[in-house]
Amino acid sequence: MAIMEFPKDMKWGAATAAYQIEGAAFKDGKGPSIWDTFSHTPGKVLNGDNGDVAIDSYHRYEEDIQLMKELGIDTYRFSVSWPRIFPTGTGEVNEKGLKFYHDFVDALLANGIEPMCTLYHWDLPQALQDKGGWANRATVDAFADYAELMFKEFGGKVKSWITINEPWCVSFLSNFIGIHAPGNTDLQLATDISHHVLLAHGKAVSRFRALNMEGGIGYAPNVEWLEPFSNKQEDVDACNRSMGFLMDWFFDPVFKGSYPAFMVEWFEQKGAVLHIEEGDMDIISQPIDFLGINYYTGGVGRYKKDADLFDMERIDIGYEKTDFDWFIYPEGFYRVLAKIKDKYGSVPIYITENGACYNDEVENGRVRDQRRIEYLKQHLTSLKRSMDYGVNIKGYLTWSLLDNFEWAEGYDKRFGIIHVDFNTLERTKKDSYYWYKQTISNGWFDM
Ligand code: NOJ
Repeated sequence: MAIMEFPKDMKWGAATAAYQIEGAAFKDGKGPSIWDTFSHTPGKVLNGDNGDVAIDSYHRYEEDIQLMKELGIDTYRFSVSWPRIFPTGTGEVNEKGLKFYHDFVDALLANGIEPMCTLYHWDLPQALQDKGGWANRATVDAFADYAELMFKEFGGKVKSWITINEPWCVSFLSNFIGIHAPGNTDLQLATDISHHVLLAHGKAVSRFRALNMEGGIGYAPNVEWLEPFSNKQEDVDACNRSMGFLMDWFFDPVFKGSYPAFMVEWFEQKGAVLHIEEGDMDIISQPIDFLGINYYTGGVGRYKKDADLFDMERIDIGYEKTDFDWFIYPEGFYRVLAKIKDKYGSVPIYITENGACYNDEVENGRVRDQRRIEYLKQHLTSLKRSMDYGVNIKGYLTWSLLDNFEWAEGYDKRFGIIHVDFNTLERTKKDSYYWYKQTISNGWFDM
């Protein structure tokens, strides 16, 4: 028997996001977001699914909090729907929206669970999109105002803040690859947006500091590791560029105050240039209190000739895949964390998302998602290895507490450790829930 043991003060948690779970999409004064628009546009989301009802956590949060409490988590990461607070993105505040989050946060605290609040998990107010969305610098200031209001309202209650979730997705997945809202396919636009989203992060950090807030603030980029298929220079370069696109582009500005030169050059070759105004990089590179890391997958990549933007293709060398067809690559989790420490120093890190899509269903009242348990064990083993290497890990939050609306995949992909029947909305704890509960309570698991 081998035991994988974690420090006693490590925080354990689970994560979700507003549009994926809340529902009540048009209730109590909430304004429409780009995801309401996108999901109601035919052909954008698998099976025409949308988040109108989602898993109805807007009305069922008390039940959900009881599930968290029984699970024994220290921390719950949720996101606030910006258009619930500002229905048109700026201007008048929707008191009912604020009240909802006050009631919710109070209920978490009453049950001994620490809230970790994400301010932007992709549901931009549609009214701001109508004026250009993140491509418009005015959206950056609107975000800072919204962030400031949230700090003032929830100061003392919420002590962990995340500005932007997965800035790469907000910029490139949504505005160049175009499979997420608002669905643009324009490299220059996406490049401008990447800078604005980082600036929005920085401006929110400035407001946080100006208010002298208790607690900490950070952001949550998504990371992957791509191992070159061979040591041929072209394979190594292709993998470096893909990781540069995903990571260095969103890390260097924050930790080093500049964009990575090799990537700036690459973008320029593809016809996209950065528009940086004076002072922007100082705002973006202000110290943060912690870094959130979202890790799911990685693998092996090789140079691909005549590719569109990125000359890297992933190749299948036999790693198993989840039901999302993502390679399972726990080694990459270790490598990416080690690289972050080597390159940016020992910033405190919360794993703000890690988990797997497996679509196991309820059979006789039970969900036997053994494959998810294996995935979690493998990734926690890599995490421990990174801690032994000196990576400053403060906590681990799994994605997700509950099955939910998986963006362009609608309800077709299940990431929860709690199963949700999308018709009846009934919640059923999966085997992974019980395994995670045991792991949290012991602080170790049996490999
Ligand atoms: C990252 C995103 O932050 C989250 O919203 C999404 O559901 C998971 N990845 C799984 O794809």
